[in-house]
Amino acid sequence: MEVVIVPDAAAGGELIAEAMAALLRRKPDAVLGVATGSTPLPVYRALEAKVRAGAVEVGRARIAQLDEYVGLPADHPESYRSVLRKEVLEPLGINAEAFLGPDGTAEDVAAACASYEAALTAAGGVDLQLLGIGTDGHIGFNEPCSSLASRTRIKTLTEQTRVDNARFFDDDIDQVPHHVITQGIGTILDARHLVLLATGAGKAEAVAATVEGPVASVCPASALQLHPHATVVVDEAAASKLRLADYFRHAYANKPAWQGI
Ligand code: PGA
Repeated sequence: MEVVIVPDAAAGGELIAEAMAALLRRKPDAVLGVATGSTPLPVYRALEAKVRAGAVEVGRARIAQLDEYVGLPADHPESYRSVLRKEVLEPLGINAEAFLGPDGTAEDVAAACASYEAALTAAGGVDLQLLGIGTDGHIGFNEPCSSLASRTRIKTLTEQTRVDNARFFDDDIDQVPHHVITQGIGTILDARHLVLLATGAGKAEAVAATVEGPVASVCPASALQLHPHATVVVDEAAASKLRLADYFRHAYANKPAWQGI
């Protein structure tokens, strides 16, 4: 995998937004897989700036959701569907019809998962999947020891993830759902390009395990090592536990510009 060390979160956002813009210039109806959480926000703001500047058009783009809480009404402000409407669809001016996501309110969760897998396939698959990483190494909501071959399914959150996410629920952990629907690791690996963004010292250990540890389900993000086109974008703090940081810097600094990420 390629590791790009950037000075700060804004630089990471700009780099990834430019990769998304380049993809959309090549393929205007590309499927962008998006992530929630705090980390991806600079990517969406940088992409919004490009759209406003006329540097890229997103009128035919499609947006695919990575994961969703089970049981939160779709109009709950912290349902990921609501968050993505607010952070991605509305600012970019993308219609709700271009949005693909699992139904976290479905009575039959297994059927909702299967139908989301079918929708992704019918859309032609995800072209670029943006990922955050949990402090426990999760991608999407694939918690430690998720099958590396898993497909979209229900998962139970770890206590750590619920503690990490309580900040979105008035710091009240009791409001954080226990269950989620998440694209599986196998589903995520089907995307044509995986881009993981991690910022801050709190992610340094998970990043080191992802990049330099063994491929092991105990660190779900390590599955990126199996993907032929995976890019890990980290700020200095998140890169601080990488043994090979100097090599990654050297390789990126000497990369032909036309290659992009
Ligand atoms: P964060 O979440 O960006 O809010 O840290 C990342 C994740 O849990 O995947």
